[in-house]
Amino acid sequence: MGTISQIQIEELERSHVHIPDRERVMDIIKQMKDDGPDKLQVVADFDRTLTKFTHRGSVCATCHNVLEESGLPKEYKEKAYAIRDKYFPIETDPNLSIEEKIPHMIEWWTQAHDLLMKYPLSKEMLYNMVANSSAKLRDGCTKFFDKLHASDVPLLIFSAGVGDIICEMIAQHSTMYDNMHVVSNDLDFDDNGKMIGFKGELIHVFNKNESAIHDSDYFTNLSHCTNVILMGDSLGDLQMANGAENVKAKLTIGFLNTRVKDSLELYKSKFDIVICEDESLDICNAIVNLIT
Ligand code: TMP
Repeated sequence: MGTISQIQIEELERSHVHIPDRERVMDIIKQMKDDGPDKLQVVADFDRTLTKFTHRGSVCATCHNVLEESGLPKEYKEKAYAIRDKYFPIETDPNLSIEEKIPHMIEWWTQAHDLLMKYPLSKEMLYNMVANSSAKLRDGCTKFFDKLHASDVPLLIFSAGVGDIICEMIAQHSTMYDNMHVVSNDLDFDDNGKMIGFKGELIHVFNKNESAIHDSDYFTNLSHCTNVILMGDSLGDLQMANGAENVKAKLTIGFLNTRVKDSLELYKSKFDIVICEDESLDICNAIVNLIT
């Protein structure tokens, strides 16, 4: 079996890349390469998967943090950070099950969104908020988008962040191509551009299996794309492609950005490839480049 793959990806040999079953992973990549880009689709989380957790040692903003960093009163930032400091350790606690975490995540998103509603956010503020923020796409993210677009590979960005911030970040720092589709919590604005809430069902980190995308025609229209690369930084992200049809090969890539020592074994038991404390998309680019 080991010789079947005959695939060499130098990036997968790096010491921060963990592959519990290398033979299986190589066989999946080989199959994806043989099938080519026409059969491939990619489903990726946004915050801390397509974006960095840290940049040169400093923690970077998530979509929600972008709204907190500038533009709105300091009081909003302080209250939002207090909420985040309570719930982020629960989100990333390897000793709690997903079931135990879910009620806390619902509380976190509900409190964060209710708090935001109390402040005067408008559509026109988003450009500067993103431009002034510490949120950063991972190194190599533009190459990743360019390559998927050039090969006509569909990319679903499935995020519990804020859709408007995702689109603005990609517009400012890269390119939003027509092969890309964003599913997230979208802001709702009135006719004057004032934020009046969020549209649709709340998406938090652990309900990505329930989102409307699974019942929409998105995955049905891609039923010919039988090979799926899934990228995430949370165990909840593993559910993102549940609606995909006729899946023949699936490769899951997990970014472990924090509490590495505590969570590595758990991540290795869930993801095919685990990438620890990396600010780039080098590993994903190497795999995609081989397939497309
Ligand atoms: P993701 O699905 O794109 O990873 O986005 C969800 C991340 O957003 C998750 O890691 C927690 C983070 N988050 C904040 O940073 N602040 C907030 O107020 C909320 C609700 C979530």
